[in-house]
Amino acid sequence: MTFTKEFTFGTATSSYQIEGAHAEDGRTPSIWDMFCDIPGKVYKQHNGDVACDHYHRFEEDIQHIKNLGVDTYRFSIAWPRIFPQKGVFNAEGMAFYKKLTSRLLEEGIKPAVTLYHWDLPMWAHEEGGWTNRESVEWFADYAKVCFQELDEYVDSWITHNEPWCAGFLGYHQGVHAPGHQNLEEALKAVHHILLSHGKVVQMLKETFHSETPIGITLNLSPVYAKTDSTNDQLAANNADGYSNRWFLDPVFKGQYPTDMMNLFSKYVHSYDFIHQGDMELISIDCDFFGINFYSRGLVEFNAAADFMYQGAYSDYEKTGMGWDIAPKEFKDLIHRLRKEYTDLPIYITENGAAFDDQVENGRVHDVKRVEYVEQHLQAVSELNDEGMNIQGYYLWSLLDNFEWSFGYDKRFGIIYVDFDSQERIWKDSAHRYAEIIKNRSLKV
Ligand code: NOJ
Repeated sequence: MTFTKEFTFGTATSSYQIEGAHAEDGRTPSIWDMFCDIPGKVYKQHNGDVACDHYHRFEEDIQHIKNLGVDTYRFSIAWPRIFPQKGVFNAEGMAFYKKLTSRLLEEGIKPAVTLYHWDLPMWAHEEGGWTNRESVEWFADYAKVCFQELDEYVDSWITHNEPWCAGFLGYHQGVHAPGHQNLEEALKAVHHILLSHGKVVQMLKETFHSETPIGITLNLSPVYAKTDSTNDQLAANNADGYSNRWFLDPVFKGQYPTDMMNLFSKYVHSYDFIHQGDMELISIDCDFFGINFYSRGLVEFNAAADFMYQGAYSDYEKTGMGWDIAPKEFKDLIHRLRKEYTDLPIYITENGAAFDDQVENGRVHDVKRVEYVEQHLQAVSELNDEGMNIQGYYLWSLLDNFEWSFGYDKRFGIIYVDFDSQERIWKDSAHRYAEIIKNRSLKV
């Protein structure tokens, strides 16, 4: 139940979810600004115009980060602040991240920076977004200036956050921006996202000769079959292919899973968007592997469903998102990754939970979130006792924030945000996390 001095404790956020200041200092809209404007896409048509107003309150937020005692803070850069128009660099937008990173360093907090956490500039979307192979070049141009301007301040780089969401939720399921529902587009988008990852890892190492560690963050959800019938096993295999293997296999093995290519081919004209040399670049060596873990999946066979599976009823205790609380399955996932995929140092770049928090006399007694965090940290510590080499843990999230299509309805923060006054209130989970970090132990 203890953590070494070297173990990294952190907390995480992303640009669109907290910054606000949507039209300041030259920022132009991203696909999320556009998506929020479409009625019915986001809960009560909430948007990120103001969010946590972090763009103006980052000094105060850094004090909260400092008081938590975390070693590192993970945030993302808003691409449309840096390139508001195609090929037009905006120094004013970059200035914000220079201030943020240098202030963090002054306070002894290491910046872990994500380049893409879903706010694709509208100008890129208008030219096909991630479905256009040129997006790889646009992303590389953007990464290049980030490396030029910020590499000296940054402790680690994450190229992409959860390509599954950007690709499949955005272009296949249509529940995230840009809201398309087309599997072929989604597979192209994922391919170009992964390719752009490889390209900028190569750039940082070969052009910049930088030693700053760089990696990618995947959201992984271990999938289980409802029963051990052959059909349910097939269903679980397909769900695992869609959720996990479609990303793990290219990144670590340099190939898309053949069973899934066959399954998808019914909806795909051709795979000729995969060019020679792409898979080598996608599977380029990185310095660490980032995992966002929230839940597990439970599925059963359904012959009529696209990929022959559907979600099954689970009697597990759930978070406010309706997601199964599954620390044991988290351990299974890490064991599997070690066995089948990689020896790289692992960082849990996100873990956390939404619950229905209430402020009572200026306090938020979020007992369930405290329990959730403790259970998962306990699992991390047990995994490390077994030699699984997990080097860090980032709690999602520092603040309640814009939870994508759920708007401000779902609160993931360990710090409560009153979105009318912008007051920040530490929840019990923030106090407990600070205590765990201070003691490097879960003991009370
Ligand atoms: C993962 C995403 O990276 C983050 O943006 C989101 O808020 C959390 N999951 C919670 O759903």
